[in-house]
Amino acid sequence: MDSKTDTSEEFAGDSTEAGGSQDALKRAMAASTSATAAAPEDTDGGPVAVEIADLNFFYGDFHAVTDVSLRFRTNEVTALIGPSGCGKSTVLRTINRMNDLIPGTRADGRVLFNGKNVYDDDVDPVEIRRRIGMVFQKPNPFPKSIYDNITWGARINGYKGDYDELVENSLRRAALWDEVKDKLRQNALRLSGGQQQRLCIARTIAVEPEIILMDEPASALDPISTSKIEDLIFELKERFTIIIVTHNMQQAGRISDKTAFFMVNDKRSGYLVEWGKTRELFFNPKDERTEAYISGRFG
Ligand SMILES: Nc1ncnc2c1ncn2[C@@H]1O[C@H](COP(=O)(O)OP(=O)(O)OP(=O)(O)O)[C@@H](O)[C@H]1O
Ligand SMILES: [Mg+2]
Repeated sequence: MDSKTDTSEEFAGDSTEAGGSQDALKRAMAASTSATAAAPEDTDGGPVAVEIADLNFFYGDFHAVTDVSLRFRTNEVTALIGPSGCGKSTVLRTINRMNDLIPGTRADGRVLFNGKNVYDDDVDPVEIRRRIGMVFQKPNPFPKSIYDNITWGARINGYKGDYDELVENSLRRAALWDEVKDKLRQNALRLSGGQQQRLCIARTIAVEPEIILMDEPASALDPISTSKIEDLIFELKERFTIIIVTHNMQQAGRISDKTAFFMVNDKRSGYLVEWGKTRELFFNPKDERTEAYISGRFG
């Protein structure tokens, strides 16, 4: 893995800072999300959780992402796919302002979350990272007990609820409870890689985000752990909106409702080729570049 990815993973903790559950409020906010005018490729309606509009992203002078516009619907799984270096992780990290943590970067354009631009001056990026959580490629539990991993974000925010309940519920929702319920005080680093990744998912959902960003969350895992994560994503979408980067076409096909396909132009800048329903993008792509990529002819 390269150093830039490592850098962002160091900041993973920031994404989980936060507080107690405000479920009803959040559901109401999600319901009031203004649906933007439907584009031809996006005619199926439903509330929009996040809309990216005219996004350009720069690492210093390097124009890494060009003119991306894309919508993510509430309670759907959207997969971001494309060849290495096409900006998938960069786009993902713009959504919860995780890129702010990389010096010298700049995002132009809008990322509307429940209709509000997350880059507006009056938006607190720490609060955004709680409401839009993130799970990384490499599981990154804190070197603390399983229990403390889950309660960490809630404690920071002075959560007043029942911590035991929070731990059990989060672990159940991450399909890990049965495997760890007798060793909650054990150091999380002693879990297997697949268990650690489900713990990271449990830690993310413990602070009740609305959106979960996942950057290749299963690429470091064995097939059984991968399939557990995939099953989990399928269950989590009932409650959360999920945006996932994956290099695995079969995985995108299995778990996502929508897929967005990115490529790089001749200046090595990433751009969106097309997006839409996963089935259509895979079986009836509008763009021949998509077809070539899906059928494995390049990338
Ligand atoms: N911290 C950084 N500083 C400078 N350039 C970066 C940084 N992170 C990414 N880039 C560059 O931005 C471009 C997009 O990178 P990004 O990591 O978003 O691609 P990706 O599609 O996620 O690739 P992969 O599939 O390999 O993970 C690449 O050219 C990359 O080298
Ligand atoms: Mg990446």
